[in-house]
Amino acid sequence: MDLTGKKIVLGLTGGVACYKAAELCRALTKAGASVQVVMTDAAGHFITAVTMQALSGQPVFSSQWDPRVDNNMAHIDITRHADAILLAPCSADFLRKLAHGACDDLLSTMCLAKQRQLPLLVAPAMNVEMWQNPATQRNVAQLREDGVVFFGPAAGEQACGEVGLGRMLEPQQLLEELIAAFQPKVLAGKRILITAGPTFEAIDPVRGITNLSSGKMGYAVARAAREAGAEVVLISGPTALATPHGVQRINVQSAQQMHDAVMAAVDAQHVFIAVAAVADWRVANASDQKMKKKDDGSVPDLKFEQNPDILATVAARTSLAGYPYCVGFAAESENLLAFGAAKREKKGIPLLVGNIGHHTFGQDDNTIILFDENGHTILPRADKLTLARQLISEVSKRLDKYSLFQ
Ligand code: CTP
Repeated sequence: MDLTGKKIVLGLTGGVACYKAAELCRALTKAGASVQVVMTDAAGHFITAVTMQALSGQPVFSSQWDPRVDNNMAHIDITRHADAILLAPCSADFLRKLAHGACDDLLSTMCLAKQRQLPLLVAPAMNVEMWQNPATQRNVAQLREDGVVFFGPAAGEQACGEVGLGRMLEPQQLLEELIAAFQPKVLAGKRILITAGPTFEAIDPVRGITNLSSGKMGYAVARAAREAGAEVVLISGPTALATPHGVQRINVQSAQQMHDAVMAAVDAQHVFIAVAAVADWRVANASDQKMKKKDDGSVPDLKFEQNPDILATVAARTSLAGYPYCVGFAAESENLLAFGAAKREKKGIPLLVGNIGHHTFGQDDNTIILFDENGHTILPRADKLTLARQLISEVSKRLDKYSLFQ
C-alpha cells in the first residue's frame, strides 16, 4: 500500500468541506497510513470528533490543554513522529493564522512548533470571493514562500451556491497528492507527453474497429510522471479511466487524431512515451451514413489503409533536434526478446518497454522488460503503478545521461 508506515497528522479547520475529511481519513487509513486527527473548535461545528475517531482509530485532539499527553505538550509531541501534516479543509482564517505565525489553539501551535523538514500540506476550502480576496492571496503567497505546499483549491460549484475557485479537492485527489508528495522528484521541471489507451477506427458513424487496451498502463505512467514532478500531457484514446490528478488530458478517437494531437504538442516536450495501442490500419472506405444490412446476405467490402506510425515519426524528428527522449511499448505474443530488440532499432528509439505476453491488456499487474542500447533488463511482476514508477526512474537516469549529449 502506498502509505504503509506513514504517520499523517490530519488537521481539520472550520468549513463545510469537513464532510469530505471523513472520507479522506478513511482513504488514508485504507492506503496504509496511521492518521492522527487534530481539529479546531470551528471544525467541531461541522463534523464530530466521534466520527473522526471512529474512522482514524485514534483519539482526536482539539485542545492545547488536553491532559492525555504525558508531558502535556500535545502541540510538540503529536508532530515529532509524523511524516506530514495535512490540513484539509484549511479555511481562509487558518491560512491567515499560519501566514502570521499565530498560535492560539492546538492546531496552529502545532504547525508553528513543527520541525522545519516536516512537510506542511494544505487543502484550502472556502467561498470563491474569500479565496480571491487580496488578503487571502497575500497569505497564500507568503505561505508558498515559507515552503507550505498547496493542494488545490479546485474550481466549480460551491456549497454556498456560488461558482469558482475555492472548492476543496476531492478525497481521492488529496490521497493522490499526498502519495505524490512522498515520491522522489526525479523529473522536476520536465515536460512529458504520453499516449495511452486504444484507438477507434470508424467503419460508419456507429461502428468501428478497436482493441483490448484498457489504458491502465499509460494512465499509470502519466500518474507516476506527475508524481515525479513532471508537467504531463496525456493523449488518450477512448477509456473509462479517471484522469490522474494534475495531468492534462486530451481525448482522441482515431490513430490519425492521436497523431495530429501528438504532433501539435511534441515540440515542447523533454520525453515522449508511447503507451497507446495504436491501430495499424484504418478503414479507407468508411461510410458517412450507417451501413444497412443487405437482404441478399452480402457483407461490406471494407478496404484498409495504413495509419501513420506516431512513435517512429516523433523519433525521426528527435534524431535531428535532440529532444524528446522517446520511449515505446511493445506487446508481442511470441519471441519477445528478439522482437523487442528489433522493434527498438526499427523505431529508432533509445528505450523500448516489452510487455511479457499480450494478456496484459486490462490487467492490474504486469511483468516488463526494458530494451536499450546495452541489452535488456527484466522488471519483475508488480502492479502497473509500481512498474510505472520504476520506468519513470529508469527514464530519468537515462535522460540525465542523454541530455549531456544534446
Ligand atoms: N505506435 C505508434 N503508432 C502506430 C503504431 C504503434 O506510435 N501507428 C507505437 C505504440 O504506441 C508503441 C510502439 O509503437 O509504443 C509499438 O507498437 P506495436 O503495436 O507493438 O508495434 P507496431 O509498430 O505496430 O508493429 P507490429 O504491430 O507489427 O508488432
